[in-house]
Amino acid sequence: MQKRLKQVIYVSEKTDKSSDSLTDIYDISQKNNSESGISGCLLIGSDSYLQLLEGPDSEVKKLYSKIEMDSRHKKVKKLFEQHIEEKLFPSWSMKFAPFKNIEWGNKEFDAGKFQTISAAAALKVFKSIREMIG
Ligand SMILES: Cc1cc2nc3c(=O)[nH]c(=O)nc-3n(C[C@H](O)[C@H](O)[C@H](O)COP(=O)(O)O)c2cc1C
Repeated sequence: MQKRLKQVIYVSEKTDKSSDSLTDIYDISQKNNSESGISGCLLIGSDSYLQLLEGPDSEVKKLYSKIEMDSRHKKVKKLFEQHIEEKLFPSWSMKFAPFKNIEWGNKEFDAGKFQTISAAAALKVFKSIREMIG
């Protein structure tokens, strides 16, 4: 039987804006996520992150607890958590999406500040990215 899949979306505020930090996160994500069956998308804003994590229930929980304690960001706020039948980003260990040149019709969001986004809007953003990358 296939393991139950969970999807989590959270938003957070950057504490470390260096590109080295992002490279480190990228490297560890590709390595760990491919081993644990996690996929997803990390949207990189000017001062914030919006990340969708999906994969086996227990792996997503474990990763989220690690991410929550990571000092490279703060104010980690879970927007929602749900069981899913199918992944949105099955072929991406972690798609890194720099937030540029995309307009969503919300001034703050368009400035790369994601903190006030609603759960529904966040999911919509990821679905649009999914459509864009095919
Ligand atoms: C915004 C952000 C996103 C992250 N995304 C992931 C991820 O998708 N996968 C991952 O393994 N670590 C991710 N990390 C890093 C974890 O917080 C943690 O440092 C890492 O998983 C530790 O891996 P280790 O237990 O193998 O040392 C992320 C960190 C930040 C700040």
